[in-house]
Amino acid sequence: MPVLADIGVLATCAPGAPGAGEVERAAVVFTDGLIRWVGPEATLPAEWAGEDRLSAGGRLVVPGLVDCHTHVVFGGWRADEFEARLSGRTYQEIAAAGGGIASTVRRTAELSEEALRARAAGFLSEMVRLGVTTVESKSGYGLAQEAELRMLRVNRRLGRDGPVRIASTLLAHVVPTAEREPTRRAAWVATFARDLVPRAAAERLADACDVYVDPGAFSPDEARLILSAARSAGLAVKLHGDQHSDGGGAALGAELRAASVDHLEHAGPGGVAALARSGAVAVTLPIAALHLRSPFAPARALIDAGVPVAVATDFNPGTAPSYHLPLAMMLACTAQRMTPAEALRGATLVAARALGLERVVGSVEPGKAADLAVIDAPSVAHWLYHFRSNDCVLTLAGGREVWRA
Ligand code: NIG
Ligand code: FE
Repeated sequence: MPVLADIGVLATCAPGAPGAGEVERAAVVFTDGLIRWVGPEATLPAEWAGEDRLSAGGRLVVPGLVDCHTHVVFGGWRADEFEARLSGRTYQEIAAAGGGIASTVRRTAELSEEALRARAAGFLSEMVRLGVTTVESKSGYGLAQEAELRMLRVNRRLGRDGPVRIASTLLAHVVPTAEREPTRRAAWVATFARDLVPRAAAERLADACDVYVDPGAFSPDEARLILSAARSAGLAVKLHGDQHSDGGGAALGAELRAASVDHLEHAGPGGVAALARSGAVAVTLPIAALHLRSPFAPARALIDAGVPVAVATDFNPGTAPSYHLPLAMMLACTAQRMTPAEALRGATLVAARALGLERVVGSVEPGKAADLAVIDAPSVAHWLYHFRSNDCVLTLAGGREVWRA
């Protein structure tokens, strides 16, 4: 079926085009998993006119969504902490008492590699129903070297199994509790940088390395050590920065030439300016801000300063227990004053850029993967305004139908 026709509005997200790069009454031609032609249906070249057609029924069509920040591989849940936070305990207090990330590390260790894969695959298939076709998946619930490598192997297996394209990230999440005495801690961080990072790169288990920079996780100097090792090993660099306080994460990301700096809830004007000079993508994670009842990242100020802003879910059992990317996009509009077109670009082309995949996915243009979502709405704004549990009626990944309502 190489022609997707009868598209009411095609939001191409092509760079440089106004809004979301909309084309009305459009068609898309694809073969061998790749887009060949895009334009108004009335101008479809004669060579394609007789091909099989798949109808979008006059609906909105968008690029397959890209969730560029998730922790989708994990064991257990943490609803008890959700209740504790609602009754006034802070994320930090819960973590200090042995909950938080440490609790998910314990629950993750209880599952076999196959059980972890099957659980994450279940989440991914729900994401496909929402129109998501590319997902970044972080490790970080292993901590110990073998346990981290195990998570990365699950990422690779998920990517091979499809249909979701997986970007795999090695995450330095926290130092294990037993290793926090200063001398042991320094040795642990050095081993992470000198052994684990090169191993993950050499075994091609990771595409990027991320460090959670926070008073409860890693210091800027520790992040420098780990991320310079990552850069030398050929991995892209990412940061969880300024999530719970302004810890200079935005400026650190700029200094380390990070592909993206994620969270930024507490980034101030200095951080915004540093990012604007750096070319890094800022990834906003409004579901996490909502759950922690923290301020939302200054997405409007970032965009106005010229920073590309991606929108992602941060799906994880602690701070963002939802993989609903359109929900994150709606929040980016209502809570962060991004326009609907900016939110869509943030969950497609800008997100692809955060993953170094902007030449492969993220827009509907010839040469890109035929990853497309048919949305039962008349426009991008209407889709995010009239928020429903799911408006996606058809998802194509590499030209193959992977979900139909
Ligand atoms: O992105 N900030 C650190 N990591 C996750 C939370 C992980 C957890 O609480 O399990 C985040 O919010
Ligand atoms: Fe995260």
